[in-house]
Amino acid sequence: MSSDESFSQRLQQVQRAVAELPEPDSVAQAHSLQLIAVIKERMTQQGGALSFHDFMQLALHAPGLGYYSAGSRKLGKDGDFITAPETSPLFSRCLARAIQPVLQSLPQRHVLEVGAGSGVMAAGVLNELAALNCKPDSYTILEVSADLKQRQTETLQLHAPLVNWRDSLPDSFTGIVLANELLDAMPVHRVVWAQGKLQECYVAWQDDRFVWQAGPLSDQRLQSRFDEIIKRLGDLPDGYVTEINLAAEDWIYTLGTNLRQGLLLFIDYGFAQHEFYHPQRTQGTLMCHYRHRAHADPLILIGLQDITAHIDFTAMADSALAADMDVAGYTTQAHFLLGSGLTELVAQIEGDAAQQLELANQVKRLTLPQEMGELFKVMALTKNLRINIPGFVLRDLRNSL
Ligand SMILES: C[S@@+](CC[C@H](N)C(=O)[O-])C[C@H]1O[C@@H](n2cnc3c(N)ncnc32)[C@H](O)[C@@H]1O
Repeated sequence: MSSDESFSQRLQQVQRAVAELPEPDSVAQAHSLQLIAVIKERMTQQGGALSFHDFMQLALHAPGLGYYSAGSRKLGKDGDFITAPETSPLFSRCLARAIQPVLQSLPQRHVLEVGAGSGVMAAGVLNELAALNCKPDSYTILEVSADLKQRQTETLQLHAPLVNWRDSLPDSFTGIVLANELLDAMPVHRVVWAQGKLQECYVAWQDDRFVWQAGPLSDQRLQSRFDEIIKRLGDLPDGYVTEINLAAEDWIYTLGTNLRQGLLLFIDYGFAQHEFYHPQRTQGTLMCHYRHRAHADPLILIGLQDITAHIDFTAMADSALAADMDVAGYTTQAHFLLGSGLTELVAQIEGDAAQQLELANQVKRLTLPQEMGELFKVMALTKNLRINIPGFVLRDLRNSL
């Protein structure tokens, strides 16, 4: 397929997907209007437009109004999207089995989870570690959303003595850091490569709606990152639009620098760089979720929908290396779960026919290539630690980075 055909097909898909979105109720619309007013005011202060990075930051995290800051349901069947730990308890059980040997080898058994959603993964990991006789000394959650923090407190009542919350990354840490679908929620810079020049995508307000505008780069690192990408992968087509996730790079670097000894294990959807910046991926990877519909227009449903971008795992590995970490593992979610004992766990679960069917469906959703199995990747970054992590034994994709 030529990239022109691919683009027009994608555009039609996006238009169709947007047309099929359910209408928000009047309360949600009023909420959205409040956030729009805040964003417009910020645009005026900034001379009429905001970089997409700043727009996404406000749309998701503006105090009291952003998608994650406000009180909508977000995760689960009644929300906008379902993550792996919400899909099946097997996910968290496998995660616990993968980190058990690491936890046992560390002088301090601390776990830090960043962006814990409803708290269901924390509860699952803690239950499984207890069953394995490997309780951590503490389980800390770093969560930016006050609303989700409240939900986590309720979910984790039974584990109360072990669990605590903090508001920023620790300056010094020994232990294990976990994050599922965190990095895709970080605000990205959107750039466009046209006539041999890199420009940034801005958002402005025009004719009663938000619109795209091209403008100068707001951060010079965007130019150097893009130059490196073109040097590694070759030139990209004129008009190519993509994202660069400096916030995720910075997050990995800070955490890597502050980690004394231990493991950062994160799971997210995305690709190695050569696939992320594929010449045919001409419109980037932005994806929005609203009431279980996915589409690619972040300029609508302001404050009511999740906005995400896929992860460039090569960039994450580069950041880790710059912080003196080792890339100890990189594989697909399916291989990680199978390597962590998924099959054995399933075989141990008893139940009637309906329960077994439900279990089989959960396994399919977590592992099939057309579901979460292939697009979701797991990366292990370590510091001062030499240990084989079970989840990475079946398939090692590090040489694709
Ligand atoms: C897509 S949800 C994933 C939730 C959970 N990990 C799961 O898998 O169900 C993203 C989570 O990250 C949190 N979050 C987003 N940006 C964050 C940041 N910079 N620091 C900490 N948490 C953040 C959100 O509030 C939310 O809890």
